[in-house]
Amino acid sequence: MKFDTPATTNPIDQLKVVGKPTDRIDGPLKTTGMAPYAYERHDALENVAYGYVLGSAIAKGSIKATDVSRAKAAPGVLTVVTAQTAGKLGKGDFNTAKLLGGPDIQHYHQAVAVVVAETFEQARAAAALIKVDYERAKGTFDLASAKDGAPPAGKDNPDTAVGDFDKAFADAPVKLDETYLTPDHAHAMMEPHATIAAWKGDKLTVWTANQMVAWSRGDVAKTLGIPKDNVRLVSPYIGGGFGGKLFIRADVILAALGAKAAGRPVKIALQRPLMFNNTTHRPATIQRIRIGATQDGKITAIGHESWSGDLPGGGPETATQQTRLLYAGANRMMKMKLAVLDLPEGNAMRAPGEAPGLMALEVAIDELAEKLGVDPIELRVLNDTQVDPEKPGRPFSQRKLIECLRTGADKFGWAKRSARPGQVRAGRWLVGMGVAAAFRNNLVMKSAARVRLEKTGRIVVETDMTDIGTGSYTIIAQTAAEMMGVPLHQVTVKLGDSSFPVSAGSGGQWGANSSTAGVYAACVKLREAVATKLGLDPAIAEFSDGRVKLGNQSLPLAQAAADAPIVAEDAMEYGDLTKTHQQSTFGGHFVEVGVDAATCEIRIRRMLAVCAAGRILNPKAARSQVIGAMTMGAGAALMEELVVDKRIGFFVNHDLAGYEVPVHADIPHQEVIFLDETDPMSSPMKAKGVGELGICGVGAAVANAIYNATGVRVREYPVTLDKLLKDMPVVA
Ligand code: MOS
Repeated sequence: MKFDTPATTNPIDQLKVVGKPTDRIDGPLKTTGMAPYAYERHDALENVAYGYVLGSAIAKGSIKATDVSRAKAAPGVLTVVTAQTAGKLGKGDFNTAKLLGGPDIQHYHQAVAVVVAETFEQARAAAALIKVDYERAKGTFDLASAKDGAPPAGKDNPDTAVGDFDKAFADAPVKLDETYLTPDHAHAMMEPHATIAAWKGDKLTVWTANQMVAWSRGDVAKTLGIPKDNVRLVSPYIGGGFGGKLFIRADVILAALGAKAAGRPVKIALQRPLMFNNTTHRPATIQRIRIGATQDGKITAIGHESWSGDLPGGGPETATQQTRLLYAGANRMMKMKLAVLDLPEGNAMRAPGEAPGLMALEVAIDELAEKLGVDPIELRVLNDTQVDPEKPGRPFSQRKLIECLRTGADKFGWAKRSARPGQVRAGRWLVGMGVAAAFRNNLVMKSAARVRLEKTGRIVVETDMTDIGTGSYTIIAQTAAEMMGVPLHQVTVKLGDSSFPVSAGSGGQWGANSSTAGVYAACVKLREAVATKLGLDPAIAEFSDGRVKLGNQSLPLAQAAADAPIVAEDAMEYGDLTKTHQQSTFGGHFVEVGVDAATCEIRIRRMLAVCAAGRILNPKAARSQVIGAMTMGAGAALMEELVVDKRIGFFVNHDLAGYEVPVHADIPHQEVIFLDETDPMSSPMKAKGVGELGICGVGAAVANAIYNATGVRVREYPVTLDKLLKDMPVVA
């Protein structure tokens, strides 16, 4: 089914099931421990051996020799695989660094060996007996010093320019020119990367934790040099991904290699200390923002330059993305530079680009508002645009940024904010409010599904879509129930298996809208098949209450499958919509903080997000996504930072004690409001993504609130108390 015109009559619009705050259908499985995650898949797997991954002790250089003899002789050890014994490995499309290093080493904790043993403890003990003789080479680990001379980010991320930025900025009566720093971030998901691999002859099955089943199946095949058809990848439950599981990592390939060498199924979970340097992370950025405005606040020039680093062949953190689209302004300049760094691989983490980009842009807007003496919400309203400012012929499909900001201001009590910072005191706390716009693009991706009507009237949906804790099972069940006119409990959803039709997968907040649209397409076909079988005109037959109705005829749905199940499969594909319309999601984040007047301890007091993200398919699941994302944004604002050892080239705080993320006590009060919106351009579901929108802008709203509380502007994240102390006003 091709979607390039807004659907008019649409069964989804009935909203009998879709749009309801339905509990997770996978909730009971998860809360009772019955949902099998990658490391605990048990289907018919006996005799599973344990793999333990050894990570490189150097960041760059080579291995001169590896002695595995003592490890091999250790109790319980079945095999040891290194690059020397693994045979030739290919490279997947989505990995920058090799998943098994040697002889050359590309980053710290790159896998250099896997030990397979009868027990986990035996494998771990034996791994400690491997002797690797390294030759260290000089690496580049410091973005600040590598930044000068860094080349443009490349043809996939071209610089953009409109008008004459330099002249307009020079001529502007009010100017802002500031630089902001964001550090490297870790996904730090609960479930580590984990895989069980089993071979049957030359056919490989991997049960793994992965967001993008089809991409990753392809990369397993490419890396191992086997046909894609010989690989089955299964990923039904995922304990958090945040972009870290978009691609395969070392666990998948080493489990497959270990299983082949041992002649037994092998399970591997990357040990937590390896998670930070072995896998991917959100790269640090240095962002210079220049904005020129008229005295009354109209932006005339806006320039955003961002520097980030990655391994050779890697990509940039696309932090200028939102600045291309968020505000009007006739003269524009966006540039990204990419330095080669020998740190672990940089890659996507929740709202790549916009999340760190808005941490800079939305502080810059706050600073500009102060220079102009206007309210930061009014400044944003004044510079709203309903068209792509780089291509004015291209409107947004929907853009309700102003409504989000106005609604939020009203609900949050913005009118009580003191425009002058450092004025509000509550006991020992200096109290301040901050706001930021939220923005994240809405991508639409082809997505397929298969639906089956069984004799019992049950509807079974199969698609390789994943549920990374987001609610995919539930919204897909809601979609099928609505389309087929059955109650939710009459739908079974099967996800995350490469033997199912290829879906959009879970990435870039496209999963909810795109995957349900694929299910919609398959259900349209199933409705046609069912109505035809019952002798009713499919164009006008109605599906409700488990029946198919036309005029005064009403037949049970199940009757169509009395002889044999009816199966339909289809995909939703998108036409030229992205060329004619810009699709994005919008929001406003509001934060109130207290800063201890003496110690500068920062506490968030309240947070509110107002989101305009198309139809909300399940307000309960969507709210969970947004409050999770707000929490992550609070982490980015106040605590998250991978600390780089610039001599040796690794992230020092590589565990969950050293890499701090917010806990309940850090987040006392959160509210989420969804604007009542549908976007008929996005898909027949009229929905958009929301899971990444929720983080976008939060960091800046927190930083702006801290400024409003204290009068101290920190432009280097995370905003920690030591960065406030020296400039704090002395208050009695
Ligand atoms: Mo997202 S960072 O594309 O999982």
